[in-house]
Amino acid sequence: MTDKHLSTQPYKGVRDFYPDDMAIQQYLFDVWAQTAESFGYERVEASVLEPAALYKAKGAENEEMVNEQTYTFTDRGKREVTLRPEMTPTVARMIAGRRQELSFPVRWYSIPNLFRYERAQRGRLREHWQLNCDIFGATDFTADVELIALAHQIFLNFGADESMFEILINNRHTMRQAYELLGITDEATVTAITRLNDRKDKIEAATYEAELTKIVQDQKLATEITAMIESDDPGDNQVVAGLKELGITNVRIDRSLARGFDYYTGTIFEVKDTHPDNRRSLLGGGRYDNLTALFGGEPISGIGFGFGDVTMRDFLETHNLLTANITSPVLAILPMDRTLNLEGQKLAQNFRAAGLSVATDISERKVGKKISTAAEALIEYVLVLGSDEITASSYTVKNLTTGEEMSGTVEELISQLTAS
Ligand code: HAM
Repeated sequence: MTDKHLSTQPYKGVRDFYPDDMAIQQYLFDVWAQTAESFGYERVEASVLEPAALYKAKGAENEEMVNEQTYTFTDRGKREVTLRPEMTPTVARMIAGRRQELSFPVRWYSIPNLFRYERAQRGRLREHWQLNCDIFGATDFTADVELIALAHQIFLNFGADESMFEILINNRHTMRQAYELLGITDEATVTAITRLNDRKDKIEAATYEAELTKIVQDQKLATEITAMIESDDPGDNQVVAGLKELGITNVRIDRSLARGFDYYTGTIFEVKDTHPDNRRSLLGGGRYDNLTALFGGEPISGIGFGFGDVTMRDFLETHNLLTANITSPVLAILPMDRTLNLEGQKLAQNFRAAGLSVATDISERKVGKKISTAAEALIEYVLVLGSDEITASSYTVKNLTTGEEMSGTVEELISQLTAS
């Protein structure tokens, strides 16, 4: 019989969000949204379904992603459909669709769920949510500064300080010039090197050298490229200088930073956790000049980043920044027995109308047990409801942390609770 039962486990590499996890998730989304809005970004959303062509178009493609990581299927009308693996092509499509009406620069953010057929491991799942913040139609370097300052502010708003994370910056355009100086001008070769660099941290130094030699067909040149990439000389970078002006100092140039997408053309950046247990990339982004051109018309330059919920939560847990209980109701109403349950609901409505969050305990538990259950759920106040209270229209609310009590009519209690 048992093997006929369906598993209670979710699909491989995706998560169920039971209340504890959902409370954290909501907290992440709230801080993300508030921070993006504090920088003047407007929220957008789209469907998870996109035509598969969006990710295969020249200029948007990312070989590994399209060939190995997308969830693609044919619908009943024989259309090829992909569950979005990232938000950037979708946002570029939406910008291009309204290019006449929008007044640029446009600042948009979204918190989409994305699907990638990844080998599940720490920090990498098959469905994740990702804060996306992008500016379109601004080519000035201060747009790059603003986006990175926004990413930086998100960390601060979660209670982190600069010692906990590090911002790495590189520039695809500058890298192209550096390759040119070494005699590499061929587009395909530059792309191949960039893709290899994106895997550099994950492979042995010898493997890296061997693969690089294979790409450039020249051992000496491969050594020169490696030396250039690993050199400490930061050179001039106005984005880094601009960030310093804003008081942001945990920034450095890293020439080995590559980013996985072919569409980036200018500044690219990632934020890494500095904690030895979680040395990983937490967010990534960059400037892309040509994505909107896929939809016709003059290209509109974009720059932005994506910040995943999985890496965000790992970061907060690693640095002990997830301590608060985030969504308990303020007050629990505890009817003495089941005949008073409906009175309890009525009373709760009055408190809720005043903006307080209220739960009622309609279980068969004894009152003492109801109080300890409320305390375990970190609810601040309890109100024990008996028929005497109802007759007198006077109730007593107890603070479970301090033990203090206050009594009075609903109105009196509301004014005390909302004042505290
Ligand atoms: P990405 O580097 O592929 O960039 O992803 C950005 C962030 O999303 C990563 O740093 C990580 O936090 C999270 N992430 C990515 N894949 C997974 C996964 N399988 N599981 C959990 N988290 C993941 C992009 O997607 C670009 N479209 C970002 C961007 C926006 N560039 C410009 N604007």
